[in-house]
Amino acid sequence: MADPRRFLEAAREAALATGRMLRAAMDEEVRISFKGTLDLVTQFDGRAQQMIDARLRAAFPDHGILAEEGLSRETGSPYRWIVDPLDGTTNFAHRFPIFSVSIALEKDGEGLVGVVYDPMRDEMFWALRGEGAFLNGTRIRVSTIAELDRSLVATGFPYDLRESPVNNVCHFNNFILRVQAVRRCGSAALDLSYLACGRFDGFWELKLKPWDVAAGAVIVREAGGRVSDFSGDAVPSFQSDIVASNGLIHEGMLEIIRLGEGDRGLDPQTPLDR
Ligand code: IPD
Ligand code: CA
Ligand code: CA
Repeated sequence: MADPRRFLEAAREAALATGRMLRAAMDEEVRISFKGTLDLVTQFDGRAQQMIDARLRAAFPDHGILAEEGLSRETGSPYRWIVDPLDGTTNFAHRFPIFSVSIALEKDGEGLVGVVYDPMRDEMFWALRGEGAFLNGTRIRVSTIAELDRSLVATGFPYDLRESPVNNVCHFNNFILRVQAVRRCGSAALDLSYLACGRFDGFWELKLKPWDVAAGAVIVREAGGRVSDFSGDAVPSFQSDIVASNGLIHEGMLEIIRLGEGDRGLDPQTPLDR
């Protein structure tokens, strides 16, 4: 019988080694290329992915993997790793020290292991389904704040925000007027981890990819939080539009999301009066 602790151990080891490489790379020259208008990638995204893939493949050659920088291996195994080798690339490229390594393992399409490592603060978040969530060895829980106007919530914006009016601007406006404050840190995996340990009370974002949320969603659930799509339905593994919270402010967050439905927001093609 496979021991999930072995999977967790391997994921933590890969995240730690990769995170240390990324931290050291902050002192090196970063070469930037663009995948889209705003979506950039550095040579270290690829290097980080290679490090993680090599470690996981050596330990579990029969497992599948899906990782952001063009890596997808189907093996027929019920186990599949979902990896964001560098979550927060824009921050990393600007030497803004908020980014992470995100590694999840799903079994039959459901999250089993989640590991998110922040090398700048040496904070390792992890969770194993049914066994709770931890930060550097200490058990973590979501916050107990129940009022929206006392809540600190986080979000992010999709890379196509200049091309598409479905760009989170209207939701951002609706939230900023109703909660204590909104933060946009630039790493969805860390946003979810911070929610899990009570630093944030809620998080929402749209157009995310599996590797942005797979690990963080396991950590939030194991910390007692709730993860859903925009209609409030629990999501077994990945949904591109996500609301996550301590559970207590979830319905309120969904109501704010509903306010923005049908609101096309500011059309990015509309010229601004200057
Ligand atoms: C991005 C970050 C960011 C979120 C974007 C993601 P990347 O991932 O998680 O916080 O707002 O939607 O694409 O490109 O840095 O791996
Ligand atoms: Ca990402
Ligand atoms: Ca990434």
